[in-house]
Order: sequence, then structure tokens, then C-alpha cells
Amino acid sequence: MRKPIVAGNWKMNTNLSEAVALAENIVRQLNVARIDKADIILAPPFTHLYRVSEIIANKHKLHLGGQNCHQEANGAYTGEVSAGMLRSLGASYVILGHSERRQYFGEDDVLIGQKVRAALENNLRPIYCLGEKLEEREIGKHFNVVSQQMQTALFDLEEADFRKLVIAYEPVWAIGTGKTASPAQAQEVHAFLRELIAKRYGAATAENTSILYGGSAKPDNAAELFDQPDIDGGLIGGASLKAEDFLAIVYALPCARR
Ligand code: PGA
Repeated sequence: MRKPIVAGNWKMNTNLSEAVALAENIVRQLNVARIDKADIILAPPFTHLYRVSEIIANKHKLHLGGQNCHQEANGAYTGEVSAGMLRSLGASYVILGHSERRQYFGEDDVLIGQKVRAALENNLRPIYCLGEKLEEREIGKHFNVVSQQMQTALFDLEEADFRKLVIAYEPVWAIGTGKTASPAQAQEVHAFLRELIAKRYGAATAENTSILYGGSAKPDNAAELFDQPDIDGGLIGGASLKAEDFLAIVYALPCARR
């Protein structure tokens, strides 16, 4: 069975002491017994990863993630961070292809596919983000867009590698805008993605792939999103910066509800 996952993408937020306080609050307040079946991922800025890894070290349900990595193993790439470096800090996941990387840093599916491979070679599980822009949804092209994003970046992976991935559907018009996709809109795309995976890798792999929703997910809308049959959790931006809100979203997972 696929794993329920909630990941917090802190983006370029928090200084070191704020990051420490946030991670400590999450560790202190997390009731591990309630999230027995789930994984929780924290993705702080690169500069805070090592410190956060120390704070979450003894909480087996909390995992560390990077927000990006370079496609090469090492070399003269000033300012960049490799997948191997993330792994050596204790990260086990890395967010790749986030729409902000695509939009502001010119990343395309080919480059993101190379990063996915670099991550896999270093034993990191990629959280591969995809999603359409507002204008693409308005002209009804969202299925074509996400299908292209899956195929170009991922579909020449071997099945064993594909199984290590987490997919995150993040409609660009919903990210940081306060405008959440309705549960039905999100479910429709998640089901479509699972179907695409089934066609390429077979039903068992599709059934085992966690597909997260991202885009203005909050404590008050998380449960109805997570209740959808093909939504396996969330990639949370803004609401991951407050321990109480983040944990309320974690506890909105069906497996964690009282
Ligand atoms: P948001 O961001 O929750 O602030 O909309 C989600 C994301 O970009 O991962």
C-alpha cells in the first residue's frame, strides 16, 4: 500500500534560530503514535539542514528533505548543492521540479529529469512536482501539461527507480495564492496521473505511488483533500511554517484522525 506523506516545504523562509525553533516545536508536539502509518518530511533551506537533522534525529517518523539539488555529482558549479551532499547531511528526500524552480530558475523537464537521476544515484527519494498554470487550465490543457511533465522527466526510468519517487501535483495557480484546488479538481488530476503511471509501469506500481497535493493546503481544507481516494497527502508551503498548523494538517491524514 502507498504511504501517506505530509511534507513541509519551508522555501526561502526562516533564519537559523527560527528554523531551530520550528523544528523543535514540531518534534515536541508531534504525537508519533498517531502517525504510525505515515511519513513526515521537513524541507528547510540548505543552510539549516544539518541543524534540523540533529533535532529530528531520534524521531523515526520525521525525515529530512532538500528543496533542490544540482544534476552533477560535484565540480565547478559555484553556489550549487549536490544530491550526495544532501545525503551526507542526513536527507532522505529532495523536492525537484517545484514550479518556483521552473518559473524563476528556468528549469525544464529535461533538466529536472537529470536531477531526479542524480538524486536516485545518491539514495535520495525525489518528490517530483508538476502542475499546470492558470492559463493552461483555463483553456482545458491541464491534462496535456501534466502528462508531458511526467513523460519527459520520468518515464524512461526503470520501474524499480520509479517506485522510489513521490509525485506532487501542485497547480501553479494554487501555490501561495490562498486559492486551493477543490477536492474534486485535485482528485481528477491525481486519478489521471495514477492512470498514466499504470499505463507505463503497471497497476501495482501505480497503486503504490504516493501522489501528494500542494497549493494553499491549510488545516481547514486538508481533511477534505486527503479524503479523496487518489490524494495520499500534501506538500505544504506557507502553512508548514507554524508547527501547530503543520501538525493540524498532518493529523488531517485519514490514518491519523481520531
Ligand atoms: P503553499 O505552497 O502551500 O504555500 O501554497 C505549496 C508549495 O509550493 O509546495
